[in-house]
Amino acid sequence: MKIVLYSDIHAQLAPLDAVQEAVAKENADREIVIGDLVMLGPEPVEVVERFMWRKDVDVLAGNLDWWVSKRKDETDPPKNEHHVWLYEMVKKTRERLSAEQIDYLDGLMWSMTITPEKGHDFFIFHATPDDIEDAIPLRFTDEEVKEKIKGTDAEIMAFGHVHGPYVREVDGQTLVCTAAVGMNWDGDYRPAYSVVEYEGDGKWNVETKRVAYDCEAQAKKNENGWMPHGERIAKMVRTGEFWNPAHMPH
Ligand SMILES: [Fe+2]
Repeated sequence: MKIVLYSDIHAQLAPLDAVQEAVAKENADREIVIGDLVMLGPEPVEVVERFMWRKDVDVLAGNLDWWVSKRKDETDPPKNEHHVWLYEMVKKTRERLSAEQIDYLDGLMWSMTITPEKGHDFFIFHATPDDIEDAIPLRFTDEEVKEKIKGTDAEIMAFGHVHGPYVREVDGQTLVCTAAVGMNWDGDYRPAYSVVEYEGDGKWNVETKRVAYDCEAQAKKNENGWMPHGERIAKMVRTGEFWNPAHMPH
């Protein structure tokens, strides 16, 4: 069984086009999107539309999809300046989406398990198994990773949220970070996706792929669009680095 996974599109249509074009050529059995369709980008309507009517793709929720559909900007006071900016974007993103699109985001599942063979589970979630807003960054020690995935006995798990793809083994379990499509923070601007293939007898093969595209045109859309501080997002789209190195989210 061959599964393609990608995540953290963040309302950026051109890198999504590039990834979906590559994914189409993979001839996979399953296509799974691991959340954060919207926020941090100028094209939330177009990105949600891309998935809303498709029956052949599984889509999970991300923390920022949840912020938008649950009106986090109205229910939780901002914790810092960064939040003030994000909340403004949550509000403006929600204003652009239709009620039907917001309902779609609200109805997305938070995790799923694929079992190609009895006793061989592949567990998929946006951030950590228990928390849509937590994270498993690459810098974590094995002990820190084990604490986050405690109670998860799947042979392999995939998630997004961290914006820099990686594959890691911890105590016999495989962790696959698929993120991100919209913008990365690992110094490589190219959108990423993962190919996970179950070869039988508990053997899983994992590959991370990256796709080049015209990031300059997409960066300009961010700079010249409706978003507050679109220039910050444009910088990430162009460089593959977080806009403010002093304030990395994870
Ligand atoms: Fe996220």
